[in-house]
Amino acid sequence: MKVLGIAGSLRAGSFNRSLLRAAQELAPAGMTITAFDLAAIPLYNGDVEAQGDPEPVTALKSAIRQADALLIATPEYNFGVPGVLKNAIDWASRPPRDSVLKGKPAAIMGATPGMGGTARAQMQLRQAFVFTQTLAMLSPEVLVARAHEKFDASGGLTDEKTRQLVGHFLQALAEWTLRLKPKA
Ligand SMILES: Cc1cc2nc3c(=O)[nH]c(=O)nc-3n(C[C@H](O)[C@H](O)[C@H](O)COP(=O)(O)O)c2cc1C
Repeated sequence: MKVLGIAGSLRAGSFNRSLLRAAQELAPAGMTITAFDLAAIPLYNGDVEAQGDPEPVTALKSAIRQADALLIATPEYNFGVPGVLKNAIDWASRPPRDSVLKGKPAAIMGATPGMGGTARAQMQLRQAFVFTQTLAMLSPEVLVARAHEKFDASGGLTDEKTRQLVGHFLQALAEWTLRLKPKA
């Protein structure tokens, strides 16, 4: 089962990029998680799109198309989804009737130094996924609050409870994906 991991942060020391790396380590047998870096995705512009997708957007759409499922690690900015991630979803959602996001199984997780664990950003992302018809797993949830206490200086996930939760979450994603796409 091929899972495409997308972190909604460009920071080298990002907790969400670290969370995605932890997921790569903790993936169950038979699941591989490949990370897609959003750094090269330009800001959405309908005029640019009309001339043809820029190469990084083509690469993003192709990676999503080829994946059996998506794994999103979202930060929370001002109680919502960071622009970097929303912008990538906006590109990928085109054309709306036949987008690579339509019918794609997905799982959403997130990390923040704050207490809310990215709950509000995750709910906002779920709302966008209603329009794109992306099939976001309902539970379990991975809400990593006080992230600075759970990762070490090199970005390793050291909190044992969170490691167990991520492992359980990825197993659930595997089952969710199989249920929706029996050939995965
Ligand atoms: C513009 C901005 C808005 C933020 N708003 C929130 C917020 O609403 N909730 C929250 O928990 N953290 C908020 N934060 C703190 C982020 O959770 C923190 O910067 C986090 O480390 C970002 O994720 P990253 O480590 O993956 O880059 C905000 C940070 C920035 C830069």
